[in-house]
Amino acid sequence: QSDMRARLLEVNKQAAKYFYYQLISPRGQAAHDYLVQRGLTEETIKQFGLGYSNKYSDDLYKYLKGQGYEDEFLKTSGLVTIDERKGATDKFWNRVMFPIMDANHRVIGFGGRVMGDGMPKYVNSPETLIFDKSRNLYGLNFARASRKQYLLICEGYMDVIALHQAGFTNAVAALGTAFTIFHANLLKRYTNEVLLTFDSDSAGTQAALRAIPILKEAGLTVKVINMKPYKDPDEFIKALGAEEYAKRIAEARNSFFFEIDVLQSEYDMADPEQKTKFFHETAKKLLGFTEELERNFYLDAVAKNYQIDVEQLRKVVNKLGSQI
Ligand code: UTP
Ligand code: MN
Ligand code: MN
Ligand code: MN
Ligand code: MN
Repeated sequence: QSDMRARLLEVNKQAAKYFYYQLISPRGQAAHDYLVQRGLTEETIKQFGLGYSNKYSDDLYKYLKGQGYEDEFLKTSGLVTIDERKGATDKFWNRVMFPIMDANHRVIGFGGRVMGDGMPKYVNSPETLIFDKSRNLYGLNFARASRKQYLLICEGYMDVIALHQAGFTNAVAALGTAFTIFHANLLKRYTNEVLLTFDSDSAGTQAALRAIPILKEAGLTVKVINMKPYKDPDEFIKALGAEEYAKRIAEARNSFFFEIDVLQSEYDMADPEQKTKFFHETAKKLLGFTEELERNFYLDAVAKNYQIDVEQLRKVVNKLGSQI
C-alpha cells in the first residue's frame, strides 16, 4: 500500500511536469495566452506548476506508457480511462491544468479548466488512494508558510492563485466540495482564525453558512469578508486591487453577524408578522451561546443593529430558553 502511494505520487509528478512543458511549448500557446489574459504572471504560473493537456485525447497516456507505466496502474492513477473497445482516453485534454498539492508540495491530483465557456468548466481527478477531496485544501502547501495570524478560505483555484499573486499568500480553497470537519481540523494545525471569502452569489452564501458551524466546531474563530459587488476574490482584485481587498479583510465581520444578516434577508422587515419570526429565529441562534456574558454581548449587538429594544429581545430569548 505504501509502495502504491509512492508510485501514485510519482506518476502525478510526471504528469504535472509533462503538462507544464506542454504549456510552455508552442503547442500550449493558446493555453498560455489564456492564463496571461486572466492576469497571471510567468512567475505565478511556475510557482503553481500550471500546465496544459493537449488536444489529442491519449497524449498523456502515450507519454506515460513511454515512461514504462502499465495500463492497469494508469487506470488506478485516475489519469487515464481504458475501455475494452474504445481504448485509452486521458482524463484531461485540451484544458489548462492545475496540479493539486498536499501540504508537503506533493502532487496528488489535478483540476483542469476549459479555456472559455465550455462545459463542464472544471474537471477534477477522481478520488484515489492519495487524493481525498474532503481532506485536502488547495494552496495549503504555500499558505502554511505565511506568517499571517489567519488563513483566507475561498472557493476556487483561480481565487487562491490570484490572492497569492496579489500578496495574500495565506489563501486556501476547498475546491467545489463541501467543507468538512477534516478540512477544519487540517486548518487548525496551522491557525486559530479563518476568514471566509467565498463567492458572493447564493451558492457561495449557502456554502459559507454550512462551513461556519464546522469551522467553529474545530475551535476556529470565523469571520466573513464582504466582496460585493464583485463575485469572487479573483474578480475583486482585478477590479479594485490588493489595497481595497486588504481593507475588506480589515472590515471582515464576525460570522454570527453574517448569519443574522442572511437570515434577515429572508424576511420582510416591514411586515410585523415576518419581523416577529425573524426575531424568534434570532433568539434561537442567541441561545446557542451557552456562556451568559457572551450571549449578552451578542444580544446587545443584535438589538442595536436591528433597532429593537434590548429588553424586549432578552425576554424573547429567555422565554424560548425556558421552553427547551
Ligand atoms: P466557480 O464556478 O466559482 O469557478 O467554482 P471559479 O473558481 O470562479 O472559476 P473561474 O474564475 O471561472 O475560472 C469554484 C470552484 O468549484 C470547483 C472548482 O474547484 C472551482 O475553482 N468547480 C467548479 C468544479 O470542480 N467543477 C465545475 O464545473 C465548477
Ligand atoms: Mn506565451
Ligand atoms: Mn462559485
Ligand atoms: Mn472566478
Ligand atoms: Mn467563482
